[in-house]
Amino acid sequence: MTDKTGENTPHPSPRASGPLPAGGVRLQKIIAGTGLASRRKAEEWIAAGRVTVNGKVVTELGTKVDPDRVHIKVDGKHISSTQPYVYLLLNKPKNVMSTLNDPGGRPTVKDYLRGISVRVFPVGRLDFDSEGLMLLTNHGDLAQTLLHPRYHVPKTYLIKVKQVVTDEHIRQLEQGVQLEDGLTSPAIVKKVKKAKQNSWLEITIREGRQHQVKRMLEAVGHPVLKLTRIRMGPLSLGDLESGEFRYLTDREANALRELAEQKLVSAEDTEKQAPRPKRPVSRVGWARSKKVKVV
Ligand code: URA
Repeated sequence: MTDKTGENTPHPSPRASGPLPAGGVRLQKIIAGTGLASRRKAEEWIAAGRVTVNGKVVTELGTKVDPDRVHIKVDGKHISSTQPYVYLLLNKPKNVMSTLNDPGGRPTVKDYLRGISVRVFPVGRLDFDSEGLMLLTNHGDLAQTLLHPRYHVPKTYLIKVKQVVTDEHIRQLEQGVQLEDGLTSPAIVKKVKKAKQNSWLEITIREGRQHQVKRMLEAVGHPVLKLTRIRMGPLSLGDLESGEFRYLTDREANALRELAEQKLVSAEDTEKQAPRPKRPVSRVGWARSKKVKVV
């Protein structure tokens, strides 16, 4: 029930990972470390003259500074006043609620986050009897973007199903299955292995309907016996033990932010082509969101 790496630190701030590199830390890395933006976005801000160091506008991308000795502002706002975001990846065990509380008193993912003082919340759900990758964060806007059905973040599940699955059934799953709440979008399905009585498949979907994978497999006559989420966007479960969590690496957190930013940009492009009455997610949120609860 502990951080597998034993680091027990929040998501790497530029200084959390060790001594200051000779010559300082790149400005874009410091900004990205606060969770305000991806490194790429931070570079755009720097190039656009939106970043000041000790009151002077810095537009050179390679600029390195000591974050403890300078005052960095973005759009006139001091960045050290923003609490760093925390991103955790938990391997949720079976028979654990993917919520933080359960009125029925069942175990929840919170029981597996000992030592985490910041209030993080789960990005999406897994069924009580499902297991695997869960992202938990205090970065509300990122979570909202990743969860929004409109942005179609791919999620891959390793499943064990009853009986041997035929190629025809795989084709049906790939093309879309009629469920009571409508036709599913095409899935990517890979056979992993088969036994006499059952099959193992990897299925990737981009929607997030309730019990979707179980219902899809049920619809083609192969009830799910075991379900493990192994990937979500750029994140992989890897060999993280059941019940363990770890902090995302810098690279992973950055990839998530970039994914979310890309989703927002492509949604805005689509919107420009075909204006919609409502925008579901605001871009404002790359600064700290008021919706985020921090203990
Ligand atoms: N699909 C399901 O049916 N259950 C899960 O827990 C996740 C996806």
